[in-house]
Amino acid sequence: MTSRVALVTGAGRNVGQGIAVALAEAGYRVAVNDLDDQRTKQTVELITGSGGTAVSAPFDVTDPDEVASAVAQLQAELGPIDVVVNNAGVPEGGKTGSFLNSTPSDWHTYIGINMIGSTNVLHAALPGMVERGWGRVIQISSGAGSVGRNIGVSLYGGSKAGIEGFLRHLSQEVGPSGVTVNSLALGLMDNVGTDIPTMKALLAGIPVGRLGKPSDVGGAVLWLCSEPGSWVTGQTIHVNGGSVNGH
Ligand SMILES: NC(=O)c1ccc[n+]([C@@H]2O[C@H](COP(=O)([O-])OP(=O)(O)OC[C@H]3O[C@@H](n4cnc5c(N)ncnc54)[C@H](O)[C@@H]3O)[C@@H](O)[C@H]2O)c1
Repeated sequence: MTSRVALVTGAGRNVGQGIAVALAEAGYRVAVNDLDDQRTKQTVELITGSGGTAVSAPFDVTDPDEVASAVAQLQAELGPIDVVVNNAGVPEGGKTGSFLNSTPSDWHTYIGINMIGSTNVLHAALPGMVERGWGRVIQISSGAGSVGRNIGVSLYGGSKAGIEGFLRHLSQEVGPSGVTVNSLALGLMDNVGTDIPTMKALLAGIPVGRLGKPSDVGGAVLWLCSEPGSWVTGQTIHVNGGSVNGH
């Protein structure tokens, strides 16, 4: 068990909630962020109801001032943040579809959450980790950042590839300070729903024969946070049941 502090963004439901719960079960005091206040409270209740420690941290990761003041307040309440999991990555109302049907302004939504949002959190929390000589930065990414498919997610995939590329550079900058920086590229998770018409074909492309669960991602996060995980940095690790499609 640890007594460290972790901040998980977009943790009000699904993948982020699974990560927050896994960290709390391992003893982390968890700051549960989401845009939606009701969702942060639900995750906090789930954790505190099982004896864990969590606080609700509703803010918009795309707003640098909101992020800076929320992180300062969280650190005053919980102590220094040791682990950042940048999980918020699906913009509310984000438009999917082909590039040819998109407009230049559509890019802002995806770059806004996956690149600016993640780096806003790092501007606020990373200097403290470097100063204290220990930290973990984990970006929740997607196979769509590595593999091209004609399924209407090129702007989303491009923004994931962008943040992964930036983080590889960042890992080199902060490696000597005891801070590791990695991305987890997820395959299809169980919140996509099992009733979509192509599900049989999608499952046929996943050798382990099932969609991912939030706890699968929670387990990978815990390993990266562990001391045995300390020699892994600058990587994109695919967590996808061996998917032949990459996502
Ligand atoms: N679900 C999948 O199949 C899948 C596959 C590959 C990668 N991923 C990645 O996993 C992560 C989580 O996905 P999910 O399916 O659990 O998403 P989700 O939409 O179910 O949950 C994400 C949460 O993020 C919150 N959020 C959105 N914008 C925010 C903002 N600006 N600031 C703070 N919070 C914000 C939302 O309110 C929501 O509660 C994302 O980074 C996504 O790209 C998911």
